[in-house]
Amino acid sequence: MDDSDDENHGTRINSAEALKSLKFDAQSPRPTKKQKIASAGPSSSKHAAVQEQRKQLPIAQGADAIIQEMRDNDVTVLVGETGSGKTTQIPQYLLESGLARNGMIAVTQPRRVAATSLASRVSVETQSQLGSLVGYSVRFADLSSDKTKIKFVTDGMLVRELMSDSELERYSVVIIDEAHERTLRTDVLLARLKGILKKRNTVLTEGKGKGKERAPKNPLKVVIMSATLDAEKFSSFFGNAKILYVQGRQHPVTIYHAATPQPDYVDAALRTVFQIHTDQPAGDILVFLPGQEDIESLDKSIQLYAKRLPQDTPGILTCPLYASLSSLQQQQIFVPAPKHMRKVILATNIAETSVTIPWRACKEKRWVGRGVGGGFDTLLTRDITKSSAWQRTGRAGREASGSCFRLYTEDAFDALPLSAEPEIQRCSLTASMLQLKCLGQDLEDMEFMESPDEEGIAQALTALYLLSALDDRKNLTYLGRRMAFFPLEPPLSRAVIASVEFGCTSEVLTIVSVLSSSSKLFVDTTDSRDSAREAHTKFRHLSSDHLTVLNVVRAYEEVLQSEGGADGKKASKAALKDWCVRNYVSHRCLTEAFEIRTQLREYCEHQKIDWRTSCGDKVGEEQAVLRSLVRGLVQNTAFLQPDGRYKQVIGHSIVKIHPGSSLCDKKVPAIVYDELVYTTQIYARNVSAIPRNYIAEVPLLKNRRG
Ligand code: CDP
Ligand code: MG
Repeated sequence: MDDSDDENHGTRINSAEALKSLKFDAQSPRPTKKQKIASAGPSSSKHAAVQEQRKQLPIAQGADAIIQEMRDNDVTVLVGETGSGKTTQIPQYLLESGLARNGMIAVTQPRRVAATSLASRVSVETQSQLGSLVGYSVRFADLSSDKTKIKFVTDGMLVRELMSDSELERYSVVIIDEAHERTLRTDVLLARLKGILKKRNTVLTEGKGKGKERAPKNPLKVVIMSATLDAEKFSSFFGNAKILYVQGRQHPVTIYHAATPQPDYVDAALRTVFQIHTDQPAGDILVFLPGQEDIESLDKSIQLYAKRLPQDTPGILTCPLYASLSSLQQQQIFVPAPKHMRKVILATNIAETSVTIPWRACKEKRWVGRGVGGGFDTLLTRDITKSSAWQRTGRAGREASGSCFRLYTEDAFDALPLSAEPEIQRCSLTASMLQLKCLGQDLEDMEFMESPDEEGIAQALTALYLLSALDDRKNLTYLGRRMAFFPLEPPLSRAVIASVEFGCTSEVLTIVSVLSSSSKLFVDTTDSRDSAREAHTKFRHLSSDHLTVLNVVRAYEEVLQSEGGADGKKASKAALKDWCVRNYVSHRCLTEAFEIRTQLREYCEHQKIDWRTSCGDKVGEEQAVLRSLVRGLVQNTAFLQPDGRYKQVIGHSIVKIHPGSSLCDKKVPAIVYDELVYTTQIYARNVSAIPRNYIAEVPLLKNRRG
């Protein structure tokens, strides 16, 4: 899921006077160390400049000592401020040191966009083509080869690799980066790595008693990297592993807090940006916001106001940065702004510059299923933690002294929690439990840094049982093993497998691919809502949002195939984009979905599933597709109640159909939906009407009645 789920904020434009009304209280600067930065010497080639830049990174001074420690220890914990060079440099040092002679170096990242953009940066630094010496592997995209020595992977991909290489023998070094984020996959990896180390690194003694010692054949090095000071925890989990600290380069940062609470953070950010722009000397601005919608809305407002600035004031160059942007677009933040322009980066996550405006909220994945009934992980807007607040502040002092404007009061800061709850204690464990089952491990019996709670375990067991991935004795079924093979959430892989039974794999793969894309299919901004609605009417399936998706893809495919004209060529990219713009459909979403579909087709072939299987007629298609979806989304079904709302079949929540659905004002006996959205009420989003008996068809639900 991406970070663009927030629906609460449209474009905000307030009066120009309001720009001046935000008052801040300055706090004395946080005591920080000053260090002189040597200026980069003149260099003729770009590569020499890059190498010079590398040498200037804070980590460079300690490189030899760090590598020596890594040589001497199986596990090391490396702590250093963001930007000190951990992620880009350590893999290169390790490669140069020969420590990875026998295998590859894996560097995990919680976010896919980080994995791809870091791989591209390191390939530039090593003067190699991306995908050769340095590559990446993220869900639905792999750019690596047998030449690859440094591979950036998402933590989820490395967990997936465990299924085919249970001791990660292809790797000599595994670097768990951004470990402080404590994603569920990171925690699963850390737990597994402990066992793997024991197996791969134990010194064997030949013969009894004082036999000859045999060095391990293919030992593993584990490096845990983190930006915050929670290193002790990681160290003690790995039997008091060595902790190394990188001395950061930190200039003083002046911190300001809002004098009064700011109920509208996008508006507060807008006013602050212009206040800084008009009052402060040159320098970039970095704004942290919770999600893509906020970023887009603020971007628009800034551009609108920037046009009204007096002629002699410098212009503003906005630069959005969020999860679903391509890595190329993401790389933009490292490009300096043109002269007489101030760069304003609007980001959901990591970036560095000289002025930051941290807003307090962040998007946190939380499984709303716990306590409310079956569901997917949903991104909720929550307050950030003190530790992230300090990290964001730190970004302001990277290159020179800077300022940090917190758009919340000092009291609000004091009330923030110290650090985030690890995902393992708040996210759905279903997918991880299934993967671990395939490795012969029971999640409930494993030793994690923090144990999952019993409720989370029970929910995951129930979910897997309802999907027939586990039998009633908690044993993995053949179906479960097949489900785990697909890089999809278990409900979606279950739907794909069910589609074989109902003869509609082609249709279901298309729908699942669109649902798995990181962007939304329909473009629906506040100012274009009416024309978008109208354009979408022709795609609308009256009783199914899932089949509406299928209609859009088919219409797009028609353009793709036909518009090239007599020479038989396919439609140009421009023509396709134009079609998307006219129809308020996201080109990015469709392009990504098509890539995903290609990959899923390969997975199907591997499983001997014929992905070409398709229903002939419309009625048959509707039934087959919905029956397949119900098999997977069984926990996301609900029956109509007398009051017109719907009650979950499994779970107790009462839900309403989301206003964006074709079914929103309809009353149908039963529904299946993709996800629940929590605002003032619980809404089911992406909904299809289904006959009640489709639910009763699910093997374990024969006797459910509404
Ligand atoms: O991992 P850590 O936060 O310690 O630092 P890093 O990601 O290795 O970044 C070190 C430096 O590399 C940054 O200060 C950037 O100047 C540069 N970098 C870049 O140009 N492009 C990227 N995609 C990542 C880093
Ligand atoms: Mg890093």
